[in-house]
Amino acid sequence: MMKDKLWSGRFSERTDHGVERFTSSIQIDKRLYPYDIEGSIAHCRTLERAGVISAREADLLVEGLGRIKRDLDHGDFDFDDSLEDIHMHIEARLLQDIGKTAQKLHTARSRNDQVALDVRLYLREATWKVLDGLHKLRGAIVEFAANHLDTVMPGYTHTQRAQPVLLAHHMMAYYEMFSRDRRRFGDSLSRTNVMPLGTAALAGTTYPIDRRYTASLLGFPKVAANSMDAVSDRDFIIEFVSAAAICMMHFSRLSEEFILWSTSEFGFIELPDSFTTGSSIMPQKKNPDVCELVRGKTGVIYGHLMALLTMMKALPLSYNRDMQEDKKPLFETVDILLDCIVLFERMLPKIVVNKQAMRKAASEGFLNATDMADYLVGRGVPFRQAHACVGKAVSYALSRNKELNQLSLDELQQFESDICEDIFDYLTLEKMIKRRLSEGGTSPENVKKAIDAAKKALEEEKQPQA
Ligand code: ARG
Repeated sequence: MMKDKLWSGRFSERTDHGVERFTSSIQIDKRLYPYDIEGSIAHCRTLERAGVISAREADLLVEGLGRIKRDLDHGDFDFDDSLEDIHMHIEARLLQDIGKTAQKLHTARSRNDQVALDVRLYLREATWKVLDGLHKLRGAIVEFAANHLDTVMPGYTHTQRAQPVLLAHHMMAYYEMFSRDRRRFGDSLSRTNVMPLGTAALAGTTYPIDRRYTASLLGFPKVAANSMDAVSDRDFIIEFVSAAAICMMHFSRLSEEFILWSTSEFGFIELPDSFTTGSSIMPQKKNPDVCELVRGKTGVIYGHLMALLTMMKALPLSYNRDMQEDKKPLFETVDILLDCIVLFERMLPKIVVNKQAMRKAASEGFLNATDMADYLVGRGVPFRQAHACVGKAVSYALSRNKELNQLSLDELQQFESDICEDIFDYLTLEKMIKRRLSEGGTSPENVKKAIDAAKKALEEEKQPQA
């Protein structure tokens, strides 16, 4: 007879060592311990309230769990593969510490609803941190934008210079992206914040427990409605990781831009020394490794999303051990995402912008061609005809190695006799930007408004419970 496992009653043979190692998740799920203990304490009080255990027993269990928490906090705890997971470890330790009352803790509960609860408690807290982080990051972006309301740069399409824009406008595009991300995380939180405990293995329990009481003790606004769904739902994890994948995609785009902008070819920005690294062979190098790693880790998170979706695909109801594999991708996603949010928030204010280089790039390469066509439209030329006319002027200017505004009035009039002296003023960078007044466009007036609205929205944004 083997006695060492809490579930060993019906077994006559010891578990194979390879199987112990293979099935154990303790090295990964040990970080769930604060949530496991918090959940167990709420469970004790629920059992007490239902009259399943006495007040004295409940107190004994709760005190014992509190001591184990302190031991775990201080690293005074041994982990062992033969005890499988964090739930078993804590229960086994409780048995050792307080004796047979510990055997009552798992009444009306299964590890299936227990692990679902632990992960929800963990992810709720992680999501609060993400929401808070994205709030601060967006604040840093708005700050950055506010400092660059007069910095003109080329806006790109196809990575080709297209039209001049304000750097502030470019950065506020990221404010929009990260605002959508924050809403996505907030939305997924409403589905994470649901209490699964008390559904037991899958069918519910025979004990007269009040699940709403457990929920109120743990601060959950809702209890899971269907016991089978409660133990086998991992949608909330997939939703979080999916929102994380989208958010990382935004980080990777911004990273890519910073990497490009910091090359000598662009020379638009200088990344802070504290966020770059050197080369072991080339003494002159300053590499944008943080941005590169953010770009690289985005791929890791996409992989985790695929792993989770694939893990859940075609799983019959209800709990299946496959689901144990959800934690590694989830934890790593949370860790990477929080790192990226914090690092970008800290890096942004330290980026040095080379305004002259940006301006010079915006003045070269015919970024005023659309405006010249608009000028002609203002003189009654239909847009398509104006487009063709400016195209010819560009080709002519190219052959003379000049910009459109460097051609003489005579030269310009070859293409359209209606062109007057005022074209030169019309084609200055400032005027071009100022004219882009359509809602959401890059005019300083608009961008200033967007920044003010963002500041107000950030001020009013409800901070998640910490
Ligand atoms: N370690 C398990 C997991 O993470 C806990 C639930 C185990 N349940 C079971 N019936 N074996 O999924």
